[in-house]
Amino acid sequence: MSSALLRAVCALLASLCPPCPAASAPGLPHIPHIAAHFGTKTRYEEVNPHLLRDGLSVNASVLRAPAAERCSPVHLTAVIRHGSRYPTAKNIRRIRQLSELVRREAAGGSGASDGWLEELRSRWEAWYTEDMDGHLVMKGRDELRLLALRLRALFPTLLSEENVRKRRVAFLTSSKPRCVDSIEAFQDGLRRHGDTPVYEHEVDDHLLRFFERCRGYVEGVEKNRSALLEVEKFEKGEEMQAVVKKVASRLGLPQHRLTPELVEAAFFLCSYELSIKSVHSPWCFLFDESDAQVLEYKSDLKQYWKRSHGHAINSMSSCPLFHHIFRSLDKAGRPRRSTDASPEPASILVGHAETLLPLLSLLGLYKDQTPPTASNYQSQHRRRFRTSRIVPYAANLLFVLYDCQRGPRLQLLVNESPVRFPGLEAEEAPLYRDVRATYRHLLDGCDFHQECEGILWGRGPNIEL
Ligand SMILES: *[C@@H]1O[C@H](CO)[C@@H](O)[C@H](O)[C@H]1NC(C)=O
Ligand SMILES: *[C@@H]1O[C@H](CO)[C@@H](O)[C@H](O)[C@H]1NC(C)=O
Repeated sequence: MSSALLRAVCALLASLCPPCPAASAPGLPHIPHIAAHFGTKTRYEEVNPHLLRDGLSVNASVLRAPAAERCSPVHLTAVIRHGSRYPTAKNIRRIRQLSELVRREAAGGSGASDGWLEELRSRWEAWYTEDMDGHLVMKGRDELRLLALRLRALFPTLLSEENVRKRRVAFLTSSKPRCVDSIEAFQDGLRRHGDTPVYEHEVDDHLLRFFERCRGYVEGVEKNRSALLEVEKFEKGEEMQAVVKKVASRLGLPQHRLTPELVEAAFFLCSYELSIKSVHSPWCFLFDESDAQVLEYKSDLKQYWKRSHGHAINSMSSCPLFHHIFRSLDKAGRPRRSTDASPEPASILVGHAETLLPLLSLLGLYKDQTPPTASNYQSQHRRRFRTSRIVPYAANLLFVLYDCQRGPRLQLLVNESPVRFPGLEAEEAPLYRDVRATYRHLLDGCDFHQECEGILWGRGPNIEL
């Protein structure tokens, strides 16, 4: 069997599996207690649990344009992360290494009499193969299809069947197969039942994978170990070491046989088995709530310094996407004569967590007073920067432009919940001109070439946000 076919069969089997009767109480999905802490590997349903009961439920009260101004939505730009996916090849190698270690050496420790250790030692199969390398799983397709249906229910005039059929809606995606598959699944959701699939999307890595094209970012952060020093320090720090020790003791392994990477592989295995197969994996029993919080913090630290507010270039690298979005909004908000062509009703952009985080940061969102570091874990429990909530699988940032009596208004939603613009907190859907005024410095600047090529990185970021 070809690997692609094999993958499709595995994904199909996985999608047929849930809800696994053996693992679930009747009617209740059996969700690991640590499921809300998986960072970028969190399921969308952990952020919106009502979707577990009904994946199509929408609540129109999230649209918050002032009722007195008789507003109607005229444009939607949605920046969406791909859905649930397989582990990448690197993580699959780690999973195998971990699984072999446990099979050969785990002797069992305190609290290991519950059967899960026996399960890990003799029955659990590392069924992941390297060719699965980050591809979208069936569950991920469902996430995007259902998201499309919910967005159509929220914006029936924008994502109408006619607008899609007449190609008025723009579809742009990153070139990665998991993104292309995601944007196809999204279009599946918008298509009439029975219509033959015709996919209309363009690949645009300049917009959606800007991070790998920005030299200042690649040299200054991605390849620069000292830019991620806090992450490294935390990995060696006391909180993380305590988790390694606890996990080693639960497995009955000498502590030196486990590394933070292997502990993380076990943690992510719990997440993958849940997000791919909807099962409660025996790997989940290795962690209690406080362990999960430490591992979640480690992921957040990494995303903060590598993709978000940690370095100004992280967010500035998303300038092309920022400008693209505001150009679409400008066009859609412009006054028209009745003879003018109607504006683009919607623009659907599919990318990565690495696409969304820099953009959200550029907009000034989820910025805490004190940056998270290796040494302030204890004071960060209430931080806003929590990737489990911000960029789960199928995460989405929606820009909704309304036509209102006093002029166009703009509202932001993150994962289908309203979010206010920093600096314009008084209103949920401020006037578009006020939003433009707030971001004037970016609209007039934020030049990709200047930010990414033109500066001497040694002297640090040139614009503080
Ligand atoms: C919709 O959301 C509002 C709050 O935003 C809540 O009061 C209301 O009960 C929700 N309606 C449904 C049907 O869930
Ligand atoms: C690497 O990161 C450090 C810390 O952010 C910074 O001071 C240094 O300039 C960076 N190096 C390069 C080559 O950009």
